[in-house]
Amino acid sequence: MAAQSTTIPLPQGADLTRRDYLRLSLWGGLCIVTAESLAATVASLWPQVKAGGFGSVVTVGKAEDFPVGSVTSFPEARLYISRVESGFLALSRKCTHLGCVVPWQKDEPSLDKIASQGRFNCPCHGGMFDRYGQVVAGPPPRPLDIYPIKIEGGKILVDTGKTIVRVAYNPSQAVGV
Ligand code: FES
Repeated sequence: MAAQSTTIPLPQGADLTRRDYLRLSLWGGLCIVTAESLAATVASLWPQVKAGGFGSVVTVGKAEDFPVGSVTSFPEARLYISRVESGFLALSRKCTHLGCVVPWQKDEPSLDKIASQGRFNCPCHGGMFDRYGQVVAGPPPRPLDIYPIKIEGGKILVDTGKTIVRVAYNPSQAVGV
């Protein structure tokens, strides 16, 4: 016995069978799911830019508040300010090996001559960096990336939207007061 189809009237006067209705419903549902997935994917790829946070120009404080040898973490801006002899470096906290967040270990023996203690130890594969962001041990292929710094009115401004990739440390990278 052939399946009976029910006719559902459309407002315009056209007829729609139950099969048509189910097909349209299925396609409609698929379109909604696809659109939502697409929107979620685009949102996750879009840079998380917010005023004063990572991706924008961030004011991290007064230059005079960072003594030589200090390394200060700014988690919101995803960087460290390292005060070396010739000025300031804004170091990315992302390891140049596989991208793990590299913590500053203030009590570990230093790997540079600026101070006796403090270094960056990557927890993932043993990469180690000094205050300049230079690789001292492990698999990272290059120093920690840096961000451009400007000092205006005694305040340090870091542009976290522009990453500078280095092959080595050079004193000219440190911005003086
Ligand atoms: S991700 Fe840092 S050493 Fe591998």
